[in-house]
Amino acid sequence: MAVVFKSVVLAAIFVVSSFACVERSSRRETAEWRELFLGKCLLYKQDYGPKILCNSTIDCSDLWSKVKLAVEYQPKCNFSNSAYEDFVTASQHFVPENKFLFWEGVYPFVMWYSNSGNKYYTISDTLTGYLFDNIEWCGNSSEHDGIEKYPSTCPGYELGPDCQKSAQSVFWKTASLFYARHAYGDVHVMLNASISPAFPTDSYFGNYELPNINGTKVKKATILMVHHLDDPVLETCSSESIKNLQAHFTEKDISPSCIDNPRDVQMLMCSENSSNSNCRIPSGANRSMMTPYFIFQILCIKLLNIFV
Ligand SMILES: *[C@@H]1O[C@H](CO)[C@@H](O)[C@H](O)[C@H]1NC(C)=O
Ligand SMILES: *[C@@H]1O[C@H](CO)[C@@H](O)[C@H](O)[C@H]1NC(C)=O
Ligand SMILES: *[C@@H]1O[C@H](CO)[C@@H](O)[C@H](O)[C@H]1NC(C)=O
Ligand SMILES: *[C@@H]1O[C@H](CO)[C@@H](O)[C@H](O)[C@H]1NC(C)=O
Ligand SMILES: *[C@@H]1O[C@H](CO)[C@@H](O)[C@H](O)[C@H]1NC(C)=O
Ligand SMILES: *[C@@H]1O[C@H](CO)[C@@H](O)[C@H](O)[C@H]1NC(C)=O
Ligand SMILES: *[C@@H]1O[C@H](CO)[C@@H](O)[C@H](O)[C@H]1NC(C)=O
Repeated sequence: MAVVFKSVVLAAIFVVSSFACVERSSRRETAEWRELFLGKCLLYKQDYGPKILCNSTIDCSDLWSKVKLAVEYQPKCNFSNSAYEDFVTASQHFVPENKFLFWEGVYPFVMWYSNSGNKYYTISDTLTGYLFDNIEWCGNSSEHDGIEKYPSTCPGYELGPDCQKSAQSVFWKTASLFYARHAYGDVHVMLNASISPAFPTDSYFGNYELPNINGTKVKKATILMVHHLDDPVLETCSSESIKNLQAHFTEKDISPSCIDNPRDVQMLMCSENSSNSNCRIPSGANRSMMTPYFIFQILCIKLLNIFV
């Protein structure tokens, strides 16, 4: 009884304290969202701009106007399919060849891996996605400016049967479509090997990106099967869902390949947990072999080879 009581109290404290945190920031004036949007836009120009925006004229205030116009007074679950097209078109910019990285089920790891465009550009490393990453929003027709002031009450981005067209899901759908159409060169797809199926056909990648990847512009697609060090491996390159994905690429005349547990991914994981058993550096034997005497021996053999 005491134990039950204690855990109920603990649960109550947890709920109250986490609720308190949500509560504090739950009201968001439209002016505040606007500042956040403009701030992110300027930050993007500064951080990513020198590499990719030289040829673009991005007008952050204009982008905000387009977003505001798209969202205001829109219904919660019957958002207009075409509302974001102006914004997405205006926010598109150059992405270097071979740098497109599609993914499903691996956020936030994929954002760490892409390294702000230094390695790859996920959709959230493009300005279009960056401005909305980790943000909630929707319209509300009974507000004076048509924007919901309690974004945590918005339906979110999950593709559910009960609310198929929310402000957020229509946004990510439109952005995914444009991102996929834009892709060229060799592309990569990162999937979660701890989820079965690792390639879910009913997903942003399956529904909106894969069908829009253009086989004339994309020649090769490399699938990366990744998992956290201690997570189970439920799918590999030879699983049905991955064969299915490879077949979709082949159909488009894109040559597919697949890597289980890519080495650079594993090394990145290990940088967080070098004590993990998968992260042992080969024992000192190899290194201790590299003594001056050993190097001298190698040199002698090389010299002998030259003279013989
Ligand atoms: C700018 O445009 C030129 C050609 O129009 C292209 O070759 C170059 O890659 C572009 N650079 C950037 C950073 O957009
Ligand atoms: C959703 O919106 C469209 C037009 O914007 C309208 O024709 C349709 O009746 C609406 N559906 C519902 C369920 O409200
Ligand atoms: C794979 O999915 C599981 C379950 O959702 C999640 O816990 C894990 O962090 C994901 N792995 C990666 C690399 O994102
Ligand atoms: C719009 O906002 C008002 C005021 O916060 C709220 O009472 C109402 O439930 C909201 N409407 C919708 C459709 O969410
Ligand atoms: C695919 O790319 C080619 C070359 O850029 C273009 O001509 C074609 O219209 C694109 N196809 C689609 C469906 O967008
Ligand atoms: C690191 O790996 C060990 C197992 O090798 C595991 O017990 C520990 O929880 C991991 N730590 C983190 C931070 O993932
Ligand atoms: C030395 O390194 C090689 C790979 O570079 C490895 O196959 C071998 O097992 C290592 N030897 C020892 C004794 O660790």
